[in-house]
Amino acid sequence: MSTLESLICPIDAAPLKLNGRVLSCEHGHTFDLAKTGYVNLLPVQNKRSKDPGDSKEMVAARQNFLNQQHYYPIVEAILDSWPDSHMVNDMRILDAGCGEGYYLNEMGKSLTSKGIHAERTGLDISKWAVLAASKRDKNVSWIVGSNASLPVPEGRFDAVVCLFGFPVFSEFSRALSNKGLLLLVESGADHLIELRRLLYPSIHDFKPTYADGVPGFKLIKEQAQRFTFSLSSQTHIQELLSMTPHIHKASYEGREAVKLLESISLTADVKLRWYQKNEGNHDV
Ligand SMILES: C[S@@+](CC[C@H](N)C(=O)[O-])C[C@H]1O[C@@H](n2cnc3c(N)ncnc32)[C@H](O)[C@@H]1O
Ligand SMILES: [Zn+2]
Repeated sequence: MSTLESLICPIDAAPLKLNGRVLSCEHGHTFDLAKTGYVNLLPVQNKRSKDPGDSKEMVAARQNFLNQQHYYPIVEAILDSWPDSHMVNDMRILDAGCGEGYYLNEMGKSLTSKGIHAERTGLDISKWAVLAASKRDKNVSWIVGSNASLPVPEGRFDAVVCLFGFPVFSEFSRALSNKGLLLLVESGADHLIELRRLLYPSIHDFKPTYADGVPGFKLIKEQAQRFTFSLSSQTHIQELLSMTPHIHKASYEGREAVKLLESISLTADVKLRWYQKNEGNHDV
């Protein structure tokens, strides 16, 4: 059963049945599949804004940047570090905050080439991101929804991946099977340091996230991935900038300085942390 056939109603958590192109629960809530095959399960009352998550422009910029494959080493690092015991056929993977679907799409291609089939599901709060994702890969179940309240039944996934996203550990734990895996991918101390030096008058000390651990999970593996890449046009530099938090945080002067660049060589410094769900843990 694909994920689209085993979702739960975002309003009352009752199972949703797929009939043709409509998902419905026993209480009469219905959700149509969009033309491109994704489903929007973000109820109006759960939206903090009218158009939550990344905007259409941010999604387009991220897609243009990622399509240049500068971040492919991250895809390789994810698959190379995937714990062997969990690299199994038919594993169910959720990308929570999947953006425009680059990683899930590339992971699918790479796993297929290794002879492994994975049932892939991508969820993001931005309908623009999910719309783009649903055009990119038809073999993934795509959902507009929030990590804060995943419309999936307990224990559905073998792995949840969250890249540069907004993790909600209690929900990830609920959505994972017993001993399921969680992968967090985040920026390390030197990530895009060359750009940050231009954007900020001084660089703050790096503060690791979740230094005290993650509730409901134990850390089983940690890996740093470092590589360099170059951008050779102002357009490409702006695309990268608009997919980072720096677009909002940087000073006016910093952003003006970056506007003058025609090329830049950059360091990517990314941290991968693998966690395993604590046994018998549903509410954390
Ligand atoms: C920095 S982007 C990363 C996207 C993708 N993982 C990548 O690395 O290309 C963060 C993503 O999280 C999404 N997002 C923000 N809040 C969210 C939430 N509560 N639940 C799910 N996704 C969320 C945004 O719409 C955006 O697509
Ligand atoms: Zn319902």
